[in-house]
Amino acid sequence: MAAKDKAKTHYVCSDCNTSHPKWTGQCQGCQAWNTLVEQVIAAAPKGAAARAAGRSGYAGVTTAEVTTLAKVKSEKFSRIDAGFAEFNRVLGGGLVPGSCIVLGGNPGAGKSTLLLQSVCSVAKDLRVLYANGEESLQQTKDRATRLGLPQDRAEFMCETNVLDISAMAQELQVDLLVVDSIQTLYHPELESAPGTITQVRECAAELNRMGKRTGICVLMVGHITKNEALAGPNALKHIVDAVLMLSSTDDETYRVLRADKNRFGSTAEIGLFRMTGNGMEEVPNPSSIFLSRTITDAPGSVITPLYEGSRPLLVEIQALVDDTAMPNPRRLTVGIDSNRVSMLLAVLNKHLSMPVQAQDVYVNVVGGLKVADPSADLAVLMAAISSFRDFVVPENAMVFGEITLSGEVRPCANGQERVKEAAKLGFTTAVIPLKNVPVDPVPGLEIVPVTTIVDALAWLAANAVRKAKPAAERAEPSPAETKAAA
Ligand code: TYD
Ligand code: MG
Repeated sequence: MAAKDKAKTHYVCSDCNTSHPKWTGQCQGCQAWNTLVEQVIAAAPKGAAARAAGRSGYAGVTTAEVTTLAKVKSEKFSRIDAGFAEFNRVLGGGLVPGSCIVLGGNPGAGKSTLLLQSVCSVAKDLRVLYANGEESLQQTKDRATRLGLPQDRAEFMCETNVLDISAMAQELQVDLLVVDSIQTLYHPELESAPGTITQVRECAAELNRMGKRTGICVLMVGHITKNEALAGPNALKHIVDAVLMLSSTDDETYRVLRADKNRFGSTAEIGLFRMTGNGMEEVPNPSSIFLSRTITDAPGSVITPLYEGSRPLLVEIQALVDDTAMPNPRRLTVGIDSNRVSMLLAVLNKHLSMPVQAQDVYVNVVGGLKVADPSADLAVLMAAISSFRDFVVPENAMVFGEITLSGEVRPCANGQERVKEAAKLGFTTAVIPLKNVPVDPVPGLEIVPVTTIVDALAWLAANAVRKAKPAAERAEPSPAETKAAA
């Protein structure tokens, strides 16, 4: 390309947006170093040409006319079945035509596998183009063969020029375009390398505009950085309609799909998958998968029903409370906010007079799930008491409830569904906030309503079995130690 054909560019600070005609190491606006990125200055069409072309926003061509929403014709769009019920659930019911979606995740999370399986399923009824910039056609074929996927419908191309991909998708009149990954694409009018902020933003905006104009659903893979944010400009999140994240649970057993942003559905839903020899398999009824207890009479283990999106999940919360050998006791949590646990321990100390300040406390959410729901408070508290006092909480009991600083047990959203799910899975006792008590009795489930943590402790003292001597009396060697010494 001759130099004069090149688009005009300037350099913009990615922190403060100050524009510079030439590249410099330091931004003149905010004095930050190494923040300037090259951007193309799009030549604005003038006069009649401008009116004819319209102006374009991220979502396509904009109009200068005003109207009321009542006059806008409502178009009923039918969602595209993405091939997995769990994938559809996170999307809000399926892929929306004309929408632009980013699927992010760590390398090896299973993004390409999930999309390949999804594409082959969608291709049964619709036209699909999969543009791969990361793997060769041979590699993709190998994978499809290994997974036993039908190979005669979906169309594939190895291409990284965004304009070529966009043109091909329009020429083939596809319903779904998959791009793997947005970081490998480049816009030929930009000089910067693929994967740079400018390239990622322009390529995503180009595909988004094309999708909005033609009704093609665009699904693109996005890499993430060390901090688990989408690599590339933050603007990417604003450009697209939905950002989905695929991550592994801490123990690598499951893959969890969540929506970070979703213009067509809730961001509270999660989809659960398992990576198997046959690719990604969905876990359709996951309510009990995080309950993998082999020892049910261990102190410090309590079951709580969490509510993720539109369904309950029963998880085991484990606590270990032990005398500390350090000047400062350790507080370690996995899968739950450590500040929340510190707060609960303070409540325990203040309102139940349990001296846990000089104890090491470890709290773990089994199965690698992350708990953000305060309804797990009561379970954490009971697990801590159970470990501290060596009580075994009855194995058929489940508890939930949010705890306030005054020691009150507050009700939680979706109480009825949580209780019903527990009954379905064979739990016989539910220790729950008074206000969450179901109006109609649940067959087979005894409900223990509590209003304060004192009530909860009273239930525990009456029903828990003391396993061993409490920590304070545990001076002599344990049986395991005696056995090891012999
Ligand atoms: P991949 O989809 O390539 O990940 P991403 O595109 O997110 O980087 O998944 C790769 C991982 O999945 C790899 O570690 C191998 C594993 N895998 C399986 O366990 N089973 C399978 O059937 C396939 C295709 C991959
Ligand atoms: Mg990949």
